[in-house]
Amino acid sequence: MTFFKWDKNYESGNDIMDGDHKILVQMINDLYVEMAKGDGKKIVNSIVNSLVDYSKNHFRREEKLMKAFCYEGFEKHEAEHDEFIAKVSHFLKNINSDSITVDVAVFLKDWLSNHILTSDKKFAYYLDFKKTSDRIV
Ligand SMILES: [Fe+2]
Repeated sequence: MTFFKWDKNYESGNDIMDGDHKILVQMINDLYVEMAKGDGKKIVNSIVNSLVDYSKNHFRREEKLMKAFCYEGFEKHEAEHDEFIAKVSHFLKNINSDSITVDVAVFLKDWLSNHILTSDKKFAYYLDFKKTSDRIV
């Protein structure tokens, strides 16, 4: 059974955002599989490093779009991204501790799912509205 299943509800209608989100979902799935095995600190470390790198690039792309379209929710959204990076970076620092469990993968899944369904969809809706209205007026 897939831990983090891609759902149609996650689709924002923006191909760049959706493509990035699908890759992040896959990375969290990979992380869960390795963590559930319980013997892969090295590989978990490598997946989390890739997750931090990919998230940073993805957030940069979203934030660039927000700035380009003068999105009024930019600062709040950017703060959510920063908080996520801080949490994942903290996890990375503690990766060698024995207290790390699959709860981390559950946290990442819940955070991303919630962020996509609320903040990203709100922005995607705004983006779609802007593009449509720019064509009309
Ligand atoms: Fe976002």
